[in-house]
Amino acid sequence: MSLKIAAIREHDASERRVALVPDVAARIKRLGCDVALEAGAGVASSYPDASYKDVSIEADRAALLGSADIVLAVEPPPPELVKAMKPGAILISFVYGRNNPDLVKALRDGKITGFAMEQIPRISRAQAMDALSSQATLAGYYSVLLGAVHMPKILPMMTTAVGSLRAAQVLVMGLGVAGLQALATAHRLGAVTEGYDVRPETRDEAHSLGSKFVETGVNATGQGGYARELTADEKAKVRSVLSDHIARADLIVTTAAVPGRRAPRLIDADQIAKMKQGSVIIDLGAEGGGNCEGTKAGEIVQVGPVTIVGPINLPSCLAEQASELYAKNIFNLLQQIIKDGKLTLDMTDEVIAKTLVTYDGKITSDAIRQVVEGPAVSAAPPPSAPTAKG
Ligand code: NAI
Repeated sequence: MSLKIAAIREHDASERRVALVPDVAARIKRLGCDVALEAGAGVASSYPDASYKDVSIEADRAALLGSADIVLAVEPPPPELVKAMKPGAILISFVYGRNNPDLVKALRDGKITGFAMEQIPRISRAQAMDALSSQATLAGYYSVLLGAVHMPKILPMMTTAVGSLRAAQVLVMGLGVAGLQALATAHRLGAVTEGYDVRPETRDEAHSLGSKFVETGVNATGQGGYARELTADEKAKVRSVLSDHIARADLIVTTAAVPGRRAPRLIDADQIAKMKQGSVIIDLGAEGGGNCEGTKAGEIVQVGPVTIVGPINLPSCLAEQASELYAKNIFNLLQQIIKDGKLTLDMTDEVIAKTLVTYDGKITSDAIRQVVEGPAVSAAPPPSAPTAKG
């Protein structure tokens, strides 16, 4: 029997993305699999059921989950959904296991093989599967458009019959995937752009996008290409350099993140008070606690002269293409685990080993196991075992 791969409708109505788009469904079929879609799953991302050719559209969610060998989703699904899956089946979605221990327990207890898309390793070979990057790229682009509509001025220089309008100053803080895309977008729209990051290697990337780089003299490159948290001295040094740049900006996009930590605070209330009237901050760190003092996740707030926007889930605003990229990321992962129409999990493969969160009734990620099950208790020596002191 062919493997059955099923994409579900997202449980949260505010999530517009879908894990499977028609083009990718056709490619999965060519891997020798049957493909199914929960009825209406793609509608919010502009893929009506009829656009999926040769895909079985199923309205009965329980039947769909109970028969699928691989279930695809975008957001971490509720534990009840996992409980309806058959033992030994695979879930591929974002999982964020530290924040969703009940989901991880349901995967473990249901003997579901869980792949967490946020855990795809940041190595060259896995770039085509890197869903964090594909989604962050779109979020970075959209952040500038969002900023532009909240500004009382335009981004490019413009010459009119009554004189010239100056180009806006845009500062992007945090030059990872989203930040670089924000910088590129602001530059394309004609703004004068500058970028800042605690990893000095981003200097050349900012320059290659036609932007200045704010030199702070701090290097906080951490492990695996990510940043580490700044010390108190480093924070003070960075602050003294950045305050002028913050005060001059018409639009600031912040994207800073440190793995496993609350979003670093890049802008405080004093700096906000000295910003220009009408300036805008788009805080992409909002969901992680905010890069900016006063940010409220999911809200637009006025703090003194500044409008602070704390967007949640920007990729969902670009659901058609966010879904397209995400579905392609998943397809590239599926190609690693399906050979000749059959499942083949090579546990020695770095991508598979690092992306797995549960397998065969166990939590395979040490970090997540510690959060969900607590630290491992080391076995006490048997009563009769000799001790060092005899
Ligand atoms: P992220 O979302 O973890 O962080 C965003 C940015 O914030 C990073 O550039 C980080 O350096 C910066 N940051 C952290 N603390 C800061 C602070 N206090 N002030 C200013 N900036 C601060 O980063 P993302 O976008 O997930 O990328 C992380 C790394 O992974 C980068 O080095 C990126 O080049 C690399 N990467 C590698 C890939 C690959 O080889 N396949 C794919 C994607 C990313």
